Amino acid sequence: MENAAINGKKIAAGKAIEYIRSGMTLGLGTGSTAYWAIQGIGEQVKQGLSVRAIATSLQSESLARELGIPIVPFSEIDHLDITIDGADEVDEKLNLIKGGGGALLREKIVASATRFYIIIVDESKLVHRLGKFPLPVEVAPFGWELTSRRLEELGGQPKMRMAGADAYLTDNQHYILDCSFGLIENPAELHTQVSGITGVMEDGFFINMADIVIAGSPGGDTRLLKKGVTI
Ligand code: 5RP
Repeated sequence: MENAAINGKKIAAGKAIEYIRSGMTLGLGTGSTAYWAIQGIGEQVKQGLSVRAIATSLQSESLARELGIPIVPFSEIDHLDITIDGADEVDEKLNLIKGGGGALLREKIVASATRFYIIIVDESKLVHRLGKFPLPVEVAPFGWELTSRRLEELGGQPKMRMAGADAYLTDNQHYILDCSFGLIENPAELHTQVSGITGVMEDGFFINMADIVIAGSPGGDTRLLKKGVTI
């Protein structure tokens, strides 16, 4: 990865953790941007910050545990105060494509239980229209060929995500079909259609979920984007 992108990710993560206060329950995202947020939270925990967290992937959970961030099960909480996660694309309405790291189902469960959902990206992820990044769709292995055909009927070009010679398996033991739809005119409508296919466990559209997006630039600046407003 280019150094410029790493800088933007790290800067955005640093800004996001300023929202965290002691006593909060946090959602921890997945990916190379969320990594920096988890590192930052870990450092603050060492300095006395008292938080607990739920992670969106086994990988983030194990990083959090290594850093001494207490992990709690959903049975002990009914909401998360703040979740900080990355994204693959962010449009002007703060609709997202996520799932490049394969954690979309857990990410959406966590996001939907979150009161203040912060997305952190390097500025290259900001787009006018979603769709250059193929939409990740998490599907049940049983009957995936049929599910894939239904996605094609919607105009997508599904491609099985691979891990070497084998199909990639999510933390939930599902497959991922990365679906190119071209540039997407109406993400909300396509989300409704894709998520309505039997066999689709979750799709990578996060529509109207982000409260703010923090975009970091290689030079060290951040831009704070709120729904409908650019500051
Ligand atoms: C994982 C995700 C990630 O947030 C997304 O892929 C962005 O990753 P990165 O921060 O590494 O660019 O949705 O499922």
